[in-house]
Amino acid sequence: MSSFDAAAPIESAATPPSSWYTDEDLFSLERESVFAKTWQPVARVDALRAPGDFLAGRWFGEPIVVVCGRDGIPRAFYNVCRHHGAEILTGAGRVDELRCPYHGWSYDLDGRLRKAPRTAGIRDFDRERMSLRSLQLETWGPFVFVCTDAAAVPLAPRLAPLESRLERSRWRDLRFATRRTYEMACNWKVFVDNYLDGGYHVPSVHPELGSDLDLATYATETFEHFSLQSARARESERLGGEVLYAWLYPGFMLNRYGPVLDTHWVVPLAVDRTRVVCDFYFLETEGPEAERFIERSIRASDAIQREDIAISESVQRGLSSGGYDRGRYAPRVETAMHHFHRRLYADLRAGLD
Ligand SMILES: [Fe+2]
Repeated sequence: MSSFDAAAPIESAATPPSSWYTDEDLFSLERESVFAKTWQPVARVDALRAPGDFLAGRWFGEPIVVVCGRDGIPRAFYNVCRHHGAEILTGAGRVDELRCPYHGWSYDLDGRLRKAPRTAGIRDFDRERMSLRSLQLETWGPFVFVCTDAAAVPLAPRLAPLESRLERSRWRDLRFATRRTYEMACNWKVFVDNYLDGGYHVPSVHPELGSDLDLATYATETFEHFSLQSARARESERLGGEVLYAWLYPGFMLNRYGPVLDTHWVVPLAVDRTRVVCDFYFLETEGPEAERFIERSIRASDAIQREDIAISESVQRGLSSGGYDRGRYAPRVETAMHHFHRRLYADLRAGLD
């Protein structure tokens, strides 16, 4: 930890040592002091609209379920029965109640214990205290965020400056179309670093995208909990106007361009393995013309994604080699990356203390 000097200005700073990207202990520390303490975009609002709509998953090692209540409000719970600890729901769907498959204990959509069959004779059993354990949940735009830290500060106020930028782009009119999931052999931070290099890699790694973006207009702004990169795009079918690349600490990216929003949710699987979940939203999703446009957009995005994955896996091999320890920043372009590393350092320090 002490080999990264978070106080150094970007002009003289070195990047974090390669062990941050390869060390199992640091990966465990990140799980506790970064991912367990930050808001994670586990679901979409449009998938939890009707009472009983649910989505269950294991996120960052925790079995969690998000479910829409009879009042239309989504809630998050540990997906763990209070009886003997079995996971209650799997996958996604619609239910009347949350019924444990082990001994049939069931919970209402608001988490309250409904039935505990064959418990006659039990003493000191306060049903009110046997509700499912709840987690913090917040919706922001089309996303449902969950945080396992009961002390986490609310999400929306900290994203207000980003929200006002997105409001101008009609983002509330966007409709979810489809999802693509990628897995890659690199540390999650390699993929994030690549995203936060201020467009530095675009001309060499994505020559086709580079020709659509006016890189001279590329600008980076950093905020406490997110950073924003933006550029003007030359008019083309997919781009046109302002392109926004927003990154929410630690691993959620929103790319807003033309009639499209695509999001990347970075999920660490192991110190050298990462999943990236890409959701695509469009202003128009109905009709054959919209469908053709969606298909072309996803093909273009998929090509960019493959280029980013290939370079990220290459970087991971280099970071794991004896031939590299630490690098430097390009001060005019890699400001968002430096901001990320400083923010991460502060959280890891706090975790150690
Ligand atoms: Fe890229």
